[in-house]
Amino acid sequence: MIDRMDPIRNPYSPGAGTPPPELAGRDELRERVRIAIERIKIGNPAKSVLMVGLRGVGKTVLLDQMRADAEASGVHTLRLEAPEGRSLPALLAPQLRTALLQLSRTEVAKELAIRGLRALAGFAQSLKVKYADIEVGLDFEPEKGLADNGDLEGDLAALLEQVGRAAQGARTALVMFIDELQYVPEEQFAALITALHRCAQQRLPITVVGAGLPQLVGRAGRAKSYAERLFDYPLVGPLSPVDAARAITKPAQDLDVRFTADAVDAIVSRTQGYPYFIQEWGKHAWDAASRTPITLTDVDRASGMTVAALDESFFKVRFDRCTPLEKRYLRAMAELGPGPHRSGDIADMMGRKVNTLAPTRNQLILKGMIWSPNHGDTAFTVPLFDQFMKRAMPGREWQEG
Ligand SMILES: Nc1ncnc2c1ncn2[C@@H]1O[C@H](COP(=O)(O)OP(=O)(O)OP(=O)(O)O)[C@@H](O)[C@H]1O
Ligand SMILES: [Mg+2]
Repeated sequence: MIDRMDPIRNPYSPGAGTPPPELAGRDELRERVRIAIERIKIGNPAKSVLMVGLRGVGKTVLLDQMRADAEASGVHTLRLEAPEGRSLPALLAPQLRTALLQLSRTEVAKELAIRGLRALAGFAQSLKVKYADIEVGLDFEPEKGLADNGDLEGDLAALLEQVGRAAQGARTALVMFIDELQYVPEEQFAALITALHRCAQQRLPITVVGAGLPQLVGRAGRAKSYAERLFDYPLVGPLSPVDAARAITKPAQDLDVRFTADAVDAIVSRTQGYPYFIQEWGKHAWDAASRTPITLTDVDRASGMTVAALDESFFKVRFDRCTPLEKRYLRAMAELGPGPHRSGDIADMMGRKVNTLAPTRNQLILKGMIWSPNHGDTAFTVPLFDQFMKRAMPGREWQEG
């Protein structure tokens, strides 16, 4: 018997978008999305799915899994992540081109796909003025009057309709998987909603499966009031205690390693079922143990390493993107506890008037650090962020000035 557990075989995988060894507790959501896609494929109506959840809860890996599920069933997909600062049309254009080129290889859909590529050419050329970041290869000449008005809302709808017809011709569907949707600027989001609406009215087999922070729901509603009829917003939450326990034990079990029951309970309660934390705790508990079973003592010994690793990889990257005033705002929130908190209480805590802090709060929402579950309420988008803020800013300086 080796005197330590082999770190090389350590199965846990903390990391943004890193697939977990066991995707626990998401079967129901996967099935729901599978059904929606299959319905759309045969021309039945189904709402587009926009999954919302806090940071590190597993949205990205779920989106990727759903994409793999869809491809396995013969559906065409594309995948994008809306970063801050790039336009949606620029992200979509090259991906749509690839999808159309693929569809053009199917004999029955060839003509329709080529018309789609013409629409794309018109789209890219006419919108280039407004969205200078559009870069896409043009395979065909544009067709006059097809997706070339220079107005995003109309042109995107015309383009997606054309893509939908090509997918329909090929007896398949095109599903656009979009991550971090909350970063898409409102007018571009509105255009996407309109386009999806137009395609849905014609029962075209094209849809979006999206993911983002909880502020996404409000953004969609503000962009288009009918968004709620078009989208389902399933919540991707922390894992139930049973699923969390499975996420910890199953990967070890596959390698003939066990955890004692109290060790599992400790991880479940310290992580509150949040997947990123589960991976980090599992990883360090494994490395701290010398043999199977991994015990509560091992988990306790791993505690310092785990917290340090989480601060470094998960919390600090977010914290570093904030200005000093934004940090003070977050620190004041943390002082009040996990939240949500009334904006007025946060301002009081800082000794400021609530209206003078409105721009700071808005910036933090735009950066995806906080969100507003209800009017006047403010909550962290990062689980356990209050505890981190107290570690990061232990003194009292934040209250001054
Ligand atoms: N269902 C699950 N079971 C176990 N581990 C999971 C599960 N889902 C995600 N994880 C793990 O959690 C971590 C975070 O996953 P992911 O990056 O998908 O979260 P996210 O919601 O996209 O976070 P962010 O909002 O920061 O982008 C990864 O290490 C992943 O392996
Ligand atoms: Mg993600």
